[in-house]
Amino acid sequence: MKKQMVANLKMNLTAEEIRNYKSIIENNPIPDLLICPSSLHLELLKSDKYQLCSQDGYYIDKGAYTGENSFYQLKNLGINYSLVGHSERRNVFNENDNVVSLKIESCIRNGITPILCVGEKKEEKEAGATFSVIERQINTAMSGKTIENILIAYEPVWAIGTGLTPTIEDIDKVHIFIKDLLKDRNIKVLYGGSVNLSNIKDICNINSVDGVLIGGASNNPNNLIDMYNIM
Ligand code: PGA
Repeated sequence: MKKQMVANLKMNLTAEEIRNYKSIIENNPIPDLLICPSSLHLELLKSDKYQLCSQDGYYIDKGAYTGENSFYQLKNLGINYSLVGHSERRNVFNENDNVVSLKIESCIRNGITPILCVGEKKEEKEAGATFSVIERQINTAMSGKTIENILIAYEPVWAIGTGLTPTIEDIDKVHIFIKDLLKDRNIKVLYGGSVNLSNIKDICNINSVDGVLIGGASNNPNNLIDMYNIM
């Protein structure tokens, strides 16, 4: 099965570097690629060779919310995907499950496909709470909503940007758990957290993994192309 690649550039790259990124990827297109640049660079990175995905959005459509970008505005710009509940939003910007739920609701209302990010912290993993944390995050984000299009990204917080990854068995177990939880739908589950050139092949060989969400290793477009070729 074809696996989905999502590149999360986070708050990296200058406008000049984004122009360079665009031309390299346009010359070596990756099927179904989604790129999540800083909101500042969405317009600059637009292309018919891949799709753009916002890193976040605000759940109220418009109003006095200085500094925010709403899903309504993103959709108006032609953006059809957004990450929601990334662990950096949850942990650095204190977004709780209820805010994540409001954001999912706003994405649906505005016709944006959310990529809901879930995952346990190191201490939660050590306490054996991985499955209960993920279940709570998914249930709060999705309950009471009619959601036709959504992707889930399993990103253990302790694996993001650390070079650490769960074992292949552990990734598989969590992905199967998530698919079981949402068994009445056919939902893609991506893995994220320190995906790089040396582990992408093994991770993508797991049956229950429908794709990867790549942070640091996606900031260099040539690296991203190499990862796609390995995958
Ligand atoms: P990483 O980040 O690949 O740098 O660990 C992944 C993410 O935060 O989505």
